[in-house]
Amino acid sequence: MAVQISPSILSADFARLADEAARVEGVADWLHVDVMDNHFVPNLTLGLPVVEALLKTTSIPVDCHLMIEDPDRWAPGYAEAGASSVTIHVEAAKAAVRTLRAIRAAGARSGLALNPATPVDPYEDLLPEIDMLLVMTVEPGFGGQSFLDIMLPKISRARALIDKFGGEVWLQVDGGVSAQTIERCAEAGADVFVAGNAVYGADDPAQAIRDLRALAEK
Ligand code: DX5
Ligand code: ZN
Repeated sequence: MAVQISPSILSADFARLADEAARVEGVADWLHVDVMDNHFVPNLTLGLPVVEALLKTTSIPVDCHLMIEDPDRWAPGYAEAGASSVTIHVEAAKAAVRTLRAIRAAGARSGLALNPATPVDPYEDLLPEIDMLLVMTVEPGFGGQSFLDIMLPKISRARALIDKFGGEVWLQVDGGVSAQTIERCAEAGADVFVAGNAVYGADDPAQAIRDLRALAEK
């Protein structure tokens, strides 16, 4: 699968989201939107009304990462609103299979995210239900944290399980992905790379994406 880059608007200027999306239009494969509820993670960002507004202003497919309690209740709404991908955390979902199916039924790609302390093996049986597996490479909640090297074996293990399954499941990494870490993630088998600080912290976000893509494709 080709390398895909999903810049996280968590590191963008929230007062100018439409402009910030426009800066990466034509270069970014996705726009990663971090929904945080101050319960599942100790930070509060934005919710469905802001995602709906953003969807009207950009043609980049939106990749919603829900770091919220009760994703079973909220996730389908993001898919219905027009998000192209909706990812829920396995630690928060009480009926993950039902919710993943509801996301797909609403026309979006279904994603399942694993916190750093959550092993991947117990979720092998869910691979037929998902279009993307997200291995968190920081504890979720904030941008600009350091990449957790100890997650590299989990990325490799996830790649092996996906290859054994044989279906098309993308493997996303999120947290601390930068020019210093993206090659290791790619070597371990990731193919979708979220980058917040490395893109929106750069003077030229579009060029930062081109540089990250070149490193991941090496
Ligand atoms: C963290 C979020 C990430 C965050 C990544 O909880 O899920 O998407 O924006 O930011 P960086 O790339 O700066 O680590
Ligand atoms: Zn994220």
